[in-house]
Amino acid sequence: MATRYLQRILNAKVYDVARETELEHARNLSARLGNRVFLKREDNQPVFSFKLRGAYNKMAHLSAEQLARGVICASAGNHAQGVALSGRRLGCRTLIVMPVTTPQLKVDAVRALGGEVVLQGDSYSDAYEHALTLAEQQGLTFVHPFDDPDVIAGQGTIAMEILRQHQGPIDAVFVAIGGGGLISGVAAYLKAVRPEIKVIGVQTTDSDAMIRSVQAGKRVKLADVGLFSDGTAVKQVGVETFRLARALVDEYIRVDTDAVCAAIKDVFQDTRSILEPAGALGVAAVKQYVERTGCSDRTLIAITCGANMNFDRLRFVAERAEVGEAREALFAVTIPEERGSFKRFCELIGPRSVTEFNYRISDEHQAHIFVGLSTRTRGESAEIAELFRQQDFAAVDLTHNELANAHLRHLVGGRSELARDERLFRFVFPERPGALMRFLSSMHPGWNISLFHYRNQGADYGRILVGIQVPRAERSEFRRFLDTLAYPWVEETNNPVYRLFLR
Ligand SMILES: Cc1ncc(COP(=O)(O)O)c(C=O)c1O
Repeated sequence: MATRYLQRILNAKVYDVARETELEHARNLSARLGNRVFLKREDNQPVFSFKLRGAYNKMAHLSAEQLARGVICASAGNHAQGVALSGRRLGCRTLIVMPVTTPQLKVDAVRALGGEVVLQGDSYSDAYEHALTLAEQQGLTFVHPFDDPDVIAGQGTIAMEILRQHQGPIDAVFVAIGGGGLISGVAAYLKAVRPEIKVIGVQTTDSDAMIRSVQAGKRVKLADVGLFSDGTAVKQVGVETFRLARALVDEYIRVDTDAVCAAIKDVFQDTRSILEPAGALGVAAVKQYVERTGCSDRTLIAITCGANMNFDRLRFVAERAEVGEAREALFAVTIPEERGSFKRFCELIGPRSVTEFNYRISDEHQAHIFVGLSTRTRGESAEIAELFRQQDFAAVDLTHNELANAHLRHLVGGRSELARDERLFRFVFPERPGALMRFLSSMHPGWNISLFHYRNQGADYGRILVGIQVPRAERSEFRRFLDTLAYPWVEETNNPVYRLFLR
């Protein structure tokens, strides 16, 4: 099976549009993992993913008559751009059916490459059905995104380059799987030429159709798939790709969203490039593999297969990378609602960098604080929780609590019966290590803090919102505190938003 594909791969035509991408040593990641990690930089292809290899190989093998009639495909992503670019190179009409929900950015990218876009249906499956109908009506050739021997062979040229570029021993190659075209081509080549190299398939925990299919011994159709890694969000793998993967892939690894975000950050640190989520699956799996097997001094290659990242997703990626790398620990800490305990709590945190600090008065006796702290190692959140316990501050570790990560951190607060005489202030201070703690310690311990909201967003200035209950007799002292404070402030007590949602 692999030998038959070897021939197809050796005869594949891809270099009219694709380039031989670098096999780059990831120095930082290698040092951290104690193994030699290389990245096959398919994110550096002209359309920022490997998909043009398969699309072009398929189209370059069509007859002159088929090319004259044109081709069609269904895709909201990288395959669409691969087909459009190949069509332009071959002078062939390309019709791309995209779901109506496709972001304008991607529609424009395909049009800029000369593709004719048809928007149809709410999902990929609707677009796919429509494309088949149009292919039949107009005599167009359908270019499948993965389940086609020519497409598979085109993707296989990546493995050919890897073996040429790295002639020393290779222990494993890590490959993202959507419909399975990429891994089929890569595995077919490697198993034919260097069968000792392990081929490891990677899917996300919420889009794992290939892993389930291999386990079940037949193609499984998922009812729903997670869309974060949109390049690999496929409900059912192909017939041919299933047959090949089942026979040739050695092992599979599932990775979660946080791990993918952390991998995007790792690659950025080594290359200053930003991958799309699907493009980072291989790297996330390398890390998981090293952690699980404890291997060292091995040569591990991840195919970084795409970089079509929406810029507006970066905020989410940056935030979740901290969790995925165990760089941030989140806690709900209960402290007594009494003078000085807030300060005692702050002292306990000590020199650790605070990433988040939210609190709202709600109980006469106890205060619940939502706090995020920077950490360096995975086990550190347990150590910090123990520190809280020793001081009789009950703490719940929320680091891996989805509800806390996605929602509650934004919702802490609300109205409080106990917020009488509260005044509300916004403060801005230069974001430096320890700046938040310095701000807190400059406050008079007699003033009760009834609300606190802070989130380190990596900006130049830290912004905090504080509710303070100052006894009437101490108002002038409070005024002096504000006037001598080195940080700018704005009183928001009369802001209608405050009245609507917090009082
Ligand atoms: C960036 C990226 N990675 C991985 C894949 C998955 O490839 P395949 O469907 O061949 O498994 C795709 C598919 O479009 C992709 O765009």
